[in-house]
Amino acid sequence: MSFPAHRPRRLRRTPGLRRLVAETRLHPADLVLPVFVNEDLTARRPISSLPGVHQETLSSVVDLAAEALDAGVGGIMPFAIPTVRDAVGSQATAPDGVLARTTAAIKDKVGDDLVVIPDLCLDEFTDHGHCGVLTDDGAVDNDATLERYAAMGVVLGNAGADLLGASGMMDGQIGHVRAALDEAGLKDTGLLAYAAKYSSAFYGPFREAVDSQLQGDRRTYQQNSANAVEALHEIDLDAAEGADIVMVKPGLPYLDIVAAAAERVALPVAVYQVSGEYAQIKAAAERGWIDGDAAMDEALLSMKRAGASMIATYAAVDVAQRIR
Ligand code: PBG
Repeated sequence: MSFPAHRPRRLRRTPGLRRLVAETRLHPADLVLPVFVNEDLTARRPISSLPGVHQETLSSVVDLAAEALDAGVGGIMPFAIPTVRDAVGSQATAPDGVLARTTAAIKDKVGDDLVVIPDLCLDEFTDHGHCGVLTDDGAVDNDATLERYAAMGVVLGNAGADLLGASGMMDGQIGHVRAALDEAGLKDTGLLAYAAKYSSAFYGPFREAVDSQLQGDRRTYQQNSANAVEALHEIDLDAAEGADIVMVKPGLPYLDIVAAAAERVALPVAVYQVSGEYAQIKAAAERGWIDGDAAMDEALLSMKRAGASMIATYAAVDVAQRIR
């Protein structure tokens, strides 16, 4: 009988050994909390498809930001639901619009200790729910949308955003917004580019979270999940146009893209554990089918292992409080 010459199990024998040889770790500072602010609400309201997540009011979101900071979370990513939606998303570029006010109010509370990253996209502000303005025949008009993003970026930069989460997937958006920010004297406002953003069924619960009015889909601007080379092209373009951080979204189904991005660009790589990824863990845990905390940690750790240096997740505060 021949015995194994190599025994990898030696390093798995005790908790101490396992901890010592761990190659990646979750840390609260790596986590970014997406939050939803509804301009119409006077009390926070639970989102049924995202257990534990609420639509916040303009004041409750500030408390939540303080709680995130207290837990050691690295950043916060506000999305807003405005009272008025119209064809061009006017409220997105109103200096007193709900997202600008949210950004300023959070910044006022947390100062420079928590990174504030409002979403730079029109879909919450348009009555048709698309990420841009439409042509007469209903297509999303790339270049007209860039002008709207530039104006929105300047408004959010002036409101005090540290970074802007450019999530609209229009061609040239990073370069165009960068130029507008520089022109407005906002040279320190950074861009977190949703470089590789796929058209995904995993965004389902987000649509409830923002009371989306979208008919149809986003396949003419978000990427086809069949493609990987295309994601590398998008990442290269965003890096060349001046992105400060590149993001891959969703997370777990696209870890190959995360790994490729981390190898390819000399920029931090972020990943977004989207609403459907969070919801499926919560739903299975509620039924007692999986251990929710363990599954969450495993999913997030896998993103770190793939090469992400930061993770947007609805579980950011929970996880940070638990692992700290
Ligand atoms: C669009 C946007 C979406 C998400 C973040 N930003 C929705 C979409 O592209 O349809 C989804 C996030 C999630 O599902 O958690 N600006």
